[in-house]
Amino acid sequence: MEKERFNNLIKEKLGNINLIVVSNREPIAHEYIGKKIKAVKSIGGLTIALEPIMRNLHGTWIAYGGGSADKVVSDESGKIKLPEGEESYTLKRIFLTKNDLNEYYYGYANSVLWPLCHTVYVKPVFNSGQFLSYDEVNKKFADSIIEEIKVQKELHISSPASSEKHGFSAGEDAEGREQSGQGLNSGANGERGGNVLENVIWLQDYHLARCAKYLKEYDENIKISIFWHIPWPNPEIFSVCPEKMELLEGLLANDLIGFQIIYHCQNFLRACEWELEAQVNWADYSVTYKGHKTKVMSFPISVDANYLNHLAKSEDVDKIIDNIQKNDEIIKPSYEFLAVSVDRLDYTKGIIEKLMAIDRLLEKYPELQGKFVFVQFGVLSRVHIDAYKKFNDDISGLINNINWKYGTSDWYPIVRYFKQLDLEVYLAYYRLCNVMIVSPLHDGMNLVSKEYIMSDTDYNGMLILSRFAGASKEMYDALLVNPFDTECFAEKIYNGLFMSREEKERRISKMQNIIMENDIYDWAYNFLTALYLI
Ligand code: G6P
Repeated sequence: MEKERFNNLIKEKLGNINLIVVSNREPIAHEYIGKKIKAVKSIGGLTIALEPIMRNLHGTWIAYGGGSADKVVSDESGKIKLPEGEESYTLKRIFLTKNDLNEYYYGYANSVLWPLCHTVYVKPVFNSGQFLSYDEVNKKFADSIIEEIKVQKELHISSPASSEKHGFSAGEDAEGREQSGQGLNSGANGERGGNVLENVIWLQDYHLARCAKYLKEYDENIKISIFWHIPWPNPEIFSVCPEKMELLEGLLANDLIGFQIIYHCQNFLRACEWELEAQVNWADYSVTYKGHKTKVMSFPISVDANYLNHLAKSEDVDKIIDNIQKNDEIIKPSYEFLAVSVDRLDYTKGIIEKLMAIDRLLEKYPELQGKFVFVQFGVLSRVHIDAYKKFNDDISGLINNINWKYGTSDWYPIVRYFKQLDLEVYLAYYRLCNVMIVSPLHDGMNLVSKEYIMSDTDYNGMLILSRFAGASKEMYDALLVNPFDTECFAEKIYNGLFMSREEKERRISKMQNIIMENDIYDWAYNFLTALYLI
């Protein structure tokens, strides 16, 4: 969907909403570089996906302010208008203590929920003390949202004119049908329509499983939703979590819970049946627990398809490609065949399994030695957690071994580059490569795979995609692999390298159409209208 159409549809269907998006990670951090302050864009699927939505809907984004200069550039309530020069939405920063971060972010969110939900044989480290901190930080986020709702209400009462901009009146939808519910929101303390803007609370991800509970305690009429970006595990795996009841109860305070794919919705509904004996309606995917009904739906997240497609074809990217072809600063060994991956350095991403498949490829097809190069782009992540430190050491060890095994005086097969690059540079490598490998062991969606498809404008390459990434449900024309099956994985890389251009064009353009049909604006629109209809 074009972004103008998105804006119009949102206005027409939902009225003049005040969207409050809440996530742990902020979209832009302000960092001291020497004495200067630099705005640094966050990496990671969540922030990249939501940024264009916020730019268009001009809402408030509440997130943890983790940059070294975040406090200095924000006002006394932690607010700053972003992005610089455009100032289309407000970021409201929450400042957490070192202890909060250790216990809530590195602890419960990323040492318990992350491995538990991804089911990748990394044992969650359960710790009840960390759960208490996680809960407290969730309450801090809820308090900040409540404060924001009150501020918006005050503002609105002092300038009532803006209420006239509503696209529909209370109790009536865009087509004029009567609504039995209260529209998107009844506003704090139950008032609706009149002077009160429609608050839409949209929580993001596994850091905030308990937040809705505190908001409902403040006002049970507030409409609250959450989108869970990562997988939801099967009920057997989930059942080992000591805080499973608290997590489910927290989540069921939402009116709408979104997951990436239907399988995750089903896992969640089964957990509600197993653990809470809640009443699950399998006909409309809803759970009724303690008298409150929660709707559960899948919304596969996506990318800003048109933007990426145009940027990939831009003069800027052409120039970068030209420079790379003349003098590649990153890939030193020469190649005839190029394979590329871009991952946050995380044990769920299947990097070890991919390196093993490349080892097997070079062993099985020795004619590729001296001609094939694989570049692993990556950004270090969550480095204070032991499992991540060990993982980074394991990757380095394996890369060194493979390069030693096959390398010659002027060639080696694996290049690593673990610093963040501009999007245009990634797009240039996407256009240059013969295969793009995205092989997580388990992933909610994986937006890199969709980013790649929209940028393969010359149909030069082919996507090798893990069956265990949510994206494989839509990108079924990619070469799908089970990353644990080294032999088949190696074979699929080989097939990708030697696939005809016609076949690549046929498959890639089909996948491009699928992404165009459900881009990031469709995703946000579908979610927000589903919330409205509840
Ligand atoms: C990836 C996942 C998101 C998650 C984010 C957190 O992008 O897809 O679900 O919220 O990582 O990353 P962080 O760097 O904030 O820990």
